[in-house]
Amino acid sequence: MKVVVGLAELRLARESLANPMGLITTMGFLHEGHLSLVRRAVQECVSVGVSIFINPAQFGPTEDLDNYPVDLERDLDLLKAEQVDLVWTPTEAAMYGAGYQTWVEVEELTRYLEGEIREEHFRGVATVVTKMFNSFQPNRAYFGQKDAQQAIVIRRMVQDLNFPIEVIVCPTLREADGLAMASRNSYLNPDERRAATVIYRALSAANELFNTGEREADGLRAEMVTLLRTEPLARAEYASVADPETLEELHGPLERALLSMAVFIGETRLIDNMTVGEERGSYAVDD
Ligand code: PAF
Repeated sequence: MKVVVGLAELRLARESLANPMGLITTMGFLHEGHLSLVRRAVQECVSVGVSIFINPAQFGPTEDLDNYPVDLERDLDLLKAEQVDLVWTPTEAAMYGAGYQTWVEVEELTRYLEGEIREEHFRGVATVVTKMFNSFQPNRAYFGQKDAQQAIVIRRMVQDLNFPIEVIVCPTLREADGLAMASRNSYLNPDERRAATVIYRALSAANELFNTGEREADGLRAEMVTLLRTEPLARAEYASVADPETLEELHGPLERALLSMAVFIGETRLIDNMTVGEERGSYAVDD
């Protein structure tokens, strides 16, 4: 496995990798969720690259950029064990040098959910993912369904900007008690870790209600909110029942929906989602 820091080194190393080449973009502090994307890419591609870069452009001024967990040595050991070919760990100065002023914006889909609260978040994500795509020139890129809106935004961007890249969205990996795997879970103390299971319980309750016939968006939303209120350490920022393609909030009867939420458990902000109903066209998630 080759580990490179500079862009010129990356381009050179990429030249010797055979296609189809799969890319997994990450901010490091890897967990089984990331590794499931890597394993899928290793299975499906001839060569696999991974980027590790904590992207400052996607953090708001009051978010956890300075405390974001880092363990590069462990990350590299994990990737090596998965037979990854190439890892790029660019510096912030190289990614956003003096005079940097070019940004990628996906307009509509980023108005809702995470985008409504984290104002410049998706501009930062779309820009850094574009830079990763241009640098690695992958044939396939793997993202997790855990960040459902991010996956939808990137699919749109790939289509709109004619990237010759197949976006593959892989299922959320969960701990035994249902908590979605996330690097930020490492912030939780034992009480918070226990409390955090309320997120999965709330999504599951709404999913169950849908499966037993509830088709009113407000009924599903109320079910999630009721569950979340049972946990004193949880403070929901939103609990949403949205159109899985446009991400607009739904009211009234529905056939399918993206159930999603952002919940503070203590100081830690966690997100998770589930889809209900049949998926259609561009939203189709691979599992
Ligand atoms: O999902 C993430 O870890 C990040 O948003 C990504 C896609 C690596 C961009 O920085």
